[in-house]
Amino acid sequence: MLDLTAEIQKLKREKKAVILAHNYQRPEIQDIADYVGDSIELSRKAMQEKEAEMIVFCAVDFMAQSAAILNPTKKVLLPTLGARCPMAQMLTTDEIRRAKAQHPKAPVVLYVNTLAEAKAESDICCTSANAVEVIKSLKAETVLFGPDRNLAEYAAEKTGKTIIPLPQWGFCPTHLLFQPEDVKVLKQQHPSAVVMVHPECSGEMRKVADFIGSTSKMCRYAKESMAQEFIVGTEEGILHRLRKENPEKKFFTAYEGAVCPNMKLTTLERLYVSLKEEKHLVKVPEAVAAKARKALERMFQVN
Ligand code: 13P
Ligand code: SF4
Repeated sequence: MLDLTAEIQKLKREKKAVILAHNYQRPEIQDIADYVGDSIELSRKAMQEKEAEMIVFCAVDFMAQSAAILNPTKKVLLPTLGARCPMAQMLTTDEIRRAKAQHPKAPVVLYVNTLAEAKAESDICCTSANAVEVIKSLKAETVLFGPDRNLAEYAAEKTGKTIIPLPQWGFCPTHLLFQPEDVKVLKQQHPSAVVMVHPECSGEMRKVADFIGSTSKMCRYAKESMAQEFIVGTEEGILHRLRKENPEKKFFTAYEGAVCPNMKLTTLERLYVSLKEEKHLVKVPEAVAAKARKALERMFQVN
């Protein structure tokens, strides 16, 4: 039988590839990756990559697209073509253009969970790690923001600015599953546990949170916190990293069913085939990439 881990390592060396994996990837993918992170960290890593000839992006489509946009001389591979983020498909370019015509003075801030064509229509991008700072950095008091309605509301609370959501109803199907009632039950079982929640969760979930942040910010918070127990309100893949980095602490998912099926499509077998056959190559037409790159680069200029 083929030792997939050994074969992947061999192919990685032969092809001068680097493997980037999101915090929601399967444990075995996180363990074989060169770098595991949240969406801003992975984009930055991809942008700064010099040595490797190939970037294998174990995540979903929009993240791999951003890598291809930010480092166009590298081959960017997405091991599973169907690994899509449904939220990224909730915002069309037509909808952005319509909103821009209605609010010509409002800048368009887009969550990176969007397709390249949408980014090309935006002024600046953001992730869940920097949405508040990005919006604060703009002079405008009213901004158009999409596609995540929950992140829009969180950013509005934090910045005091008027945020017009695009579309009205954008959401993450996985984070929608978290409910404060489940947290209440878990808190009865683990009264000293700290509650960490991703800003893609509902406003009700934000109310029961002790900490709100991106996936890597949660990892940092858990490491630095004196707490010994944590209830985690984001996709379950992050528990592997949290437990690996903090073996003495305890982590409980806020809802067992919070699985992003798209993130889980990447398996060791698919990663192996991806490296071997150099597929699936992520290509963004340069006319679109040039505009999207500007919006992504502006994000990196915000501290
Ligand atoms: P992070 O940037 O926090 O890793 O989030 C990405 C994402 O898709 C959350 O669902
Ligand atoms: Fe998209 Fe939600 Fe999956 Fe993140 S968890 S990739 S937002 S579907």
